[in-house]
Amino acid sequence: MPTLHSLQGRRILLGITGSIAAYKSPQILRLLIKAGAHVEVVMTESAERFVGVETFRGLGANVHKELWGHTGELHIEIARRMEAALIAPATANTIAKITEGRSDDLLSATLLSSQAPVLLAPAMHPAMFAAPATQANLATLRKRGVRLIGPVEGEVASGDIGLGRMEEPENIALALAAEFEGPRRLSGRRVVITAGPTIEPIDPVRSLTNTSSGKMGYALAEEAANLGADVILISGPVALPTPPLVRRIDVKTALEMKAALHETLGDDLSGADVLIMAAAVSDYRPERASPDKLKRTDNGLTLRLAPNPDLLREVGARRRTLRPVLVGFALETETGDALIHHARRKLIEKRVDLVVANHATDSLGLDTNQVLLVSAQDCRPLGVRTKPAVATAILDWVARRLETEIKEWTA
Ligand SMILES: Cc1cc2nc3c(=O)[nH]c(=O)nc-3n(C[C@H](O)[C@H](O)[C@H](O)COP(=O)(O)O)c2cc1C
Repeated sequence: MPTLHSLQGRRILLGITGSIAAYKSPQILRLLIKAGAHVEVVMTESAERFVGVETFRGLGANVHKELWGHTGELHIEIARRMEAALIAPATANTIAKITEGRSDDLLSATLLSSQAPVLLAPAMHPAMFAAPATQANLATLRKRGVRLIGPVEGEVASGDIGLGRMEEPENIALALAAEFEGPRRLSGRRVVITAGPTIEPIDPVRSLTNTSSGKMGYALAEEAANLGADVILISGPVALPTPPLVRRIDVKTALEMKAALHETLGDDLSGADVLIMAAAVSDYRPERASPDKLKRTDNGLTLRLAPNPDLLREVGARRRTLRPVLVGFALETETGDALIHHARRKLIEKRVDLVVANHATDSLGLDTNQVLLVSAQDCRPLGVRTKPAVATAILDWVARRLETEIKEWTA
C-alpha cells in the first residue's frame, strides 16, 4: 500500500479555492501535517466564504490570503520555498486562471512564479466539469505537466450525481506523497482497465448477466495505481469500493462499455498506453428489452438474443501501433492443452499482446485465481495465487513490455 512517509519535511503550498468541497481541506491539511510536511495555506477570497482562516491556523499552518500589503513580494517568496503546490479544491475559475497565466490574486501569482510541481484536485458541479472550456483548460494543464487528482463520480452539493466530486482527502494526500517518491514502473502511463460483469436488460426488472465479481479487474486497477499509473477503470455493476487514485466509470451493458471505451481511448486509441480487458462482457443481449415487465404465462418464454460486439477483437483490429499494449482474458471451461490452445488462438485472432487464460471454476467469484500468461513468446503457468498477486504478475509483464519498447526505440 502507498504511504505518506515521503511527505516528511517537505514544504507544501496548499491552495484552497471557492468550492463547497473546501470544508474537506482542513482534513487534507491534517493528513499532510501528521505526515511531517511543512504546509503554507494560500486561500482565495471565495474560499474564505466556505471555510475560516482560524481552522487552518489552529491545525498548525501559516495562512496567507492577500497579494498586497507585505514587505517585499510574498508570492515570489512562497514560490521560492515551496517544493510542490496542491490546490484542493480547485475551482473551474482557478483552473481557468492558471491555464491563462493570470496572476490577480496571491494564489495565482504564486503559482505563476513557481516551477514546482502543481497538483490539482478539481471540485465542481458535473456540468461545470464537463463544460468544453473546463475540459480544454484541463487538457492544456495536463500537457504542461500539471497532475490532476480526480474528480470522482458521486453526489455533489446540489444533490446531482456525476463526475465532479472532489477526490477523498486520503487519496489526495497519497497522490501528493507519490510526487516525492522515486519514479515507479508505470509512472506517466495511462492504464485503462475494464472489470466486472455486464448486465443486459430483458425487461425493467430482469436481466441477463454472469457471476463475475470484478475482483480481478479491481486488483489490477489498484496495483497499476500503486505503480504510478494514471488508471481509468470502466466497471460493470459490482459491489467493490473504487481503489485509491483510480478514476472509475460505471456502465451496465456491453454497449455502454463499448461507448465508454471509445470515449476513453479515442478514435486512434491514443487515450491509453495499456488496455486490460478483464470485464466479463456478456456475449449476447436480448434483441429487444421489453419496456414493461413480461407477464408470466404457462407457455414458456423464448428470448431472441442478439450478439454483443466483441470489444477485445474490435480494439485489436483497430490498433495500428505498439500502443496500447493489449491484455485480454480467456475464461474457459477447458483445462490443460485445450486451454492453452484456446488462449493462443485468441492471442492471434484478436491481435492482443497477452492473454490471461483461466479455467472458470478456478476464478469466478473467488479471491484466488490460477492463470496462464500466454504471449507470442511464452506460456507461463502462475499456480494458485490471490487476485492481487496475479495482478502484480500481469502488470510486471506489462511494465517489462513497455520498458523493452523504450530500449528498442533508443537502440
Ligand atoms: C454556494 C456556491 C458553491 C460553489 N461551488 C463551486 C464548486 O464546487 N466548484 C467551482 O468551481 N465553483 C464553485 N462555485 C463558484 C466559485 O465560488 C466562483 O467561481 C468563484 O469565483 C471562485 O473563485 P476562486 O477560484 O478564486 O476561489 C460556487 C459558488 C457558490 C456560491
